[in-house]
Amino acid sequence: MNLTQKILSSHLVEGEMIKGQEIAIKIDQTLTQDSTGTMAYLQLEALGIDRVKTELSVAYIDHNTLQQGPENADDHRYIQTVAAKYGIYFSRPGNGICHQVHLERFGRPGKTLLGSDSHTPTAGGLGMLAIGAGGLDVALAMAGEPYRIIMPSIVNVRLTGKLRPWVSAKDVILELLRRLTVKGGVGKIFEYSGDGVKTLSVPERATIANMGAELGATTSIFPSDDRTYEFLKAQGRENTFVPLAADEDAEYDEVIEINLDELEPLVALPHSPDNVVKVKDAGRPKVDQVAIGSCTNSSYADLMKVASILKGKVIPEHVSLVISPGSRQVLNMLAKNGALSDLILAGARILESACGPCIGMGQAPATGAISIRTFNRNFYGRSGTKSASVYLVSPEVAAAAALTGYLIDPRELGEAPLVPYVEKFEINDNMIIKPPENREKVEIIKGPNIKPFPLNTPLSDIEKRVLIKVGDDITTDHIMPSNAKLLPLRSNVPELAKHCFEIIDENFSKRAIEWGGGIIVGGSNYGQGSSREHAALAPLQLGVKAVIAKSFARIHKANLINSGILPLTFVNERDYKDIEVGDVLKIENAVEQVRRGGRITVKNQTKGTTFEVDLEVSDRNREVLIAGGMINYVKSKNTKKT
Ligand code: F3S
Repeated sequence: MNLTQKILSSHLVEGEMIKGQEIAIKIDQTLTQDSTGTMAYLQLEALGIDRVKTELSVAYIDHNTLQQGPENADDHRYIQTVAAKYGIYFSRPGNGICHQVHLERFGRPGKTLLGSDSHTPTAGGLGMLAIGAGGLDVALAMAGEPYRIIMPSIVNVRLTGKLRPWVSAKDVILELLRRLTVKGGVGKIFEYSGDGVKTLSVPERATIANMGAELGATTSIFPSDDRTYEFLKAQGRENTFVPLAADEDAEYDEVIEINLDELEPLVALPHSPDNVVKVKDAGRPKVDQVAIGSCTNSSYADLMKVASILKGKVIPEHVSLVISPGSRQVLNMLAKNGALSDLILAGARILESACGPCIGMGQAPATGAISIRTFNRNFYGRSGTKSASVYLVSPEVAAAAALTGYLIDPRELGEAPLVPYVEKFEINDNMIIKPPENREKVEIIKGPNIKPFPLNTPLSDIEKRVLIKVGDDITTDHIMPSNAKLLPLRSNVPELAKHCFEIIDENFSKRAIEWGGGIIVGGSNYGQGSSREHAALAPLQLGVKAVIAKSFARIHKANLINSGILPLTFVNERDYKDIEVGDVLKIENAVEQVRRGGRITVKNQTKGTTFEVDLEVSDRNREVLIAGGMINYVKSKNTKKT
């Protein structure tokens, strides 16, 4: 077996490991960050369990750490108290970026990790099978439910040779992005092997696994070997080490070879992480901003390299250099050994240990500016400045740009910085709050902006009016817009729902409330766009019982099912045109019809006509819909068990 198969088989709860088939796996650890965490914990509360069932769950605060109003601080306090109540570790704001801290303090080789953040695969650098997922999936995992995925194909990335001076782990993943593009990893797990792996430290492996997310991969994983032991020992956690590797004769669906000796410093040009060229061919643009940090490149070794390049020098007047260390451990070690002073004296502005500029929280570049970043994404507008051009590079290239004011091949600087060998990291976990023994006494504190998660009722016969009729290609942005005005309402679905469909019909939510809920009629590809759960939760809040469309976008359909809203498709698309807003549609014997499968009959009471719809879902999802959504389904299953 390959390494992925070994970990999957030891966690397999349902299904067979055959490519393309659904499997369910046990989840050992979960992580959340604050941006997605509030919703995940509201969902966990709705599941009605007493405490988390995972081996370990951690709630990190790293995304929205700016406090301009009470909303972010309220979210943090809610997460802190809900974590204490349910037996979850809490990593305080300032303790660091979730993926960096998880690697340092919690990750364990051979375990599974599900996180409500797309860069959760970073822990693959430690030999974990670590996957990013939606908030509800993570809430379900915390409640002890297995995680379901379609068995991906396994790609073996064989590394040979050794990185040359000034070439970095970032260049390995940029090379893969160059070859495969941002779609090249969809439905795949990248498993690294070969002699070249031994030359890479755990933080370097984590950089590579982190940006596997930009390939669209399910995850990436490295073996657990002597280097893993060395890292865990330096973190005082050698007792969690287990050796892990693929069998000699392991089979893979695909093999890719990368000779580390041949790599050169690379850069992803604006505005896509796969727009990769050699730095020496990037045209030497003049640089306005350099931002060093993010879950990709802010380890101790990364920042020590930057400090040694900048030591005793001063950055040019036209460059703004901002550095956000990945964790407080990193920041503290830089402070103790004097490297922080080297950075400060060179002109760097030291930011908090958090995501910061990566998520657009401050440090937006100037209009039309060129920003060189060690981050993982350079999508148009992500920096907060639409006219800015963001280039993704290694810490070495970023430091060279900060020093010279130009995007240059760092080899022009001469001798490469030494990468420090760390025998022992500075360990101090006083910003990680352990769940208390006596959880009964904990009071969950919800600020005024945090409202309970809406729950559906079990399915019964439907007799409701058509609330809205929309055309083809309606996106989740049409259904539930996400903008600066609405973002602070992410934990307040009742308030957010008032803005449902407002781009198309500003009276929609008012009508839904007046009519006591209803039915949505849509065209083809209904719900395309982002995976936003709120586009199903807002209609649920407003009492929508079914969406009848010509066809659905995959993720939105899944979100409707999770919310207990029937995703029905017209058998005969011509029936679409006969329906009008206000028509009363009736589905009799709904539970029997849904359970039986096959076509469902809908009566248009207003027009006196009848038409048929399909419900194309799995048997399990039929039961989820009958229960009134995933949370009710899991709750009723657990009640039956006890
Ligand atoms: Fe944070 Fe950016 Fe990573 S937002 S989790 S540093 S991708």
